[in-house]
Amino acid sequence: MTPITTDEIRQAYLDFFQTKDHAVVPGASLIPENDPTVLFTTAGMHPLVPYLVGETHPAGKRLVDAQRCVRTGDIDEVGDSSHLTMFEMMGNWSLGDYFKEEAIAMSYEFLTDILGIDPNVLSVTCFEGDRDAPKDEEAAQYWMNMGIPEDRIGFLPKKENWWGPAGLTGPCGPDTEMFYWVGDGEPHGNPAKNDSDWMEIWNDVFMQYNKTEDGQFEALAQKNVDTGMGLERVAAVMQGVSNVYETDRMKPIIERVRDLANEEDLKHERIVTDHIKAATFIIADGIKPGNVDQGYVLRKLIRRAIRSAKQLGIETSGSFCAKISDEVVSQYGHIFGHIQSQEKMIADTLSSEEVQFTKTLQAGLKQLEKVIESTAGNIIAGVDAFHLYDTYGFPLELTKEILEEKGYSITEQDFKVAFTAHQELSRKGAEQKFAGGLADHSSETTKLHTATHLLNAALRIVLGDHIYQKGSNITQERLRFDFSHEEKMTDEQKKEVERLVNEAIDANLPIHYHLTDVEGAKDEGAIGVFDEKYDSEVKVYVIGGFSKEICGGPHVANTGMLGHFTLKKEESSSSGVRRIKAVVSGGPEKIEVATQL
Ligand code: ALA
Repeated sequence: MTPITTDEIRQAYLDFFQTKDHAVVPGASLIPENDPTVLFTTAGMHPLVPYLVGETHPAGKRLVDAQRCVRTGDIDEVGDSSHLTMFEMMGNWSLGDYFKEEAIAMSYEFLTDILGIDPNVLSVTCFEGDRDAPKDEEAAQYWMNMGIPEDRIGFLPKKENWWGPAGLTGPCGPDTEMFYWVGDGEPHGNPAKNDSDWMEIWNDVFMQYNKTEDGQFEALAQKNVDTGMGLERVAAVMQGVSNVYETDRMKPIIERVRDLANEEDLKHERIVTDHIKAATFIIADGIKPGNVDQGYVLRKLIRRAIRSAKQLGIETSGSFCAKISDEVVSQYGHIFGHIQSQEKMIADTLSSEEVQFTKTLQAGLKQLEKVIESTAGNIIAGVDAFHLYDTYGFPLELTKEILEEKGYSITEQDFKVAFTAHQELSRKGAEQKFAGGLADHSSETTKLHTATHLLNAALRIVLGDHIYQKGSNITQERLRFDFSHEEKMTDEQKKEVERLVNEAIDANLPIHYHLTDVEGAKDEGAIGVFDEKYDSEVKVYVIGGFSKEICGGPHVANTGMLGHFTLKKEESSSSGVRRIKAVVSGGPEKIEVATQL
């Protein structure tokens, strides 16, 4: 039976690659663990970076999964037919196992045999070559062997047909992308010729180079394949609809928005649908609306959704967003148990942000009145409108509308100048955030990662067994650990935790890992995240008799390498969650990495 529904396609992909000896691994959280450089998981490869740069994966050399991803870079394109803030990426990986020929053959077989797509509506692109790497004739030849005619193969430069490194350095390589015909009439050409007629559905990356610090591309010893297929886009193809919002799981959500709306506007309907869906998943992965990092992105998504709802004539006094997130949970809860089990918390979080934003908007209205009062004549300065936008989240369209009703106008040029300067600032901020690179497994971050395990174990000794990890974020300078605990820690408790960690460091405890399955890990009393639905092997890191935790690694080989541990700060993170920031100092510059026992 041909898979048609989103659920069927997801399952068919996992099943197909299982028949090709891939192990199904669970998708990870939207919030990257132990990676200071990005806010969200943006691709299926992201949680696998340690394995792409050489760590052994406990499940083997061939992996497949479905990974929920958030890409905020595409936010301005949300509202068109194919860009989503949160989407599912299906992916298969070869960790130094098969390479181009097999990867292309498997992609082709899945598209044409399993999904039954007519090869005539497919086209592909390959890397055109530059001074770093040659034209990828090899990939093109494998496509032709499959039966893709030469004129359906386009060659494009690095900007399009190269993926990675995810940071500044690391594994990367040419990719080959697969496209589906969305143009009018008979399929023709390829994305290098008539780009807008073709929609990208899948990307196979051939990680055969390592980009070094001095910008050189050297051949990698371990050649990997990293692929990503857009589940929602493929669902649109299989269901014969022209955009992702009309697919089986998205449609009931946009319909719910339409039911509640008093006006029609496709773009705003799509923005509400996309943003509340993304917000639902982000909240479920432990984020609350806030003013920095993921919390800020979440707040922006909710507020943009509310503004769009207002444009649709929807009353947003506290219950609107939750009505939409309820529908998201109805559509995806059977696949993502964690959104189902947290449905009420998600609804409450959205409601309180909606109430707060509505108050903000009211305050903005008052401010607007003041501006009007203090203006002689009937033209309002653009910078005042910008201030309303910046401080009260008051959209320019809304300001203009209200002013027009009252017979005023604004100097829009001023507004634009202020707005552009503001965007430039946030762009710089975002770039800085991403500049560090993903594969940041330096000595310092590895030490801090091990220190996090010691801290986790010490907290359980001092505060009790109810402690479990709610989040972890490591930079070159410090660790940040969020854990479940209601009360503020006392000074004595903090001192005791610090003392226990340093005692473990001073004892020079050896660190090793072994492989087992989730059940085995549970039985031996390892801590870690167990609520996963697939069975696969996991790594358990053991630190002397002090800590035993499921984790991907890497870790230092001996606790002595951490030097000295200092707890810098203990504070509230969100309701029921405390946060510790800590550092290590005085250890050796070069470390050894823990090995398998
Ligand atoms: N990592 C590749 C992508 O995101 C597959 O397109």
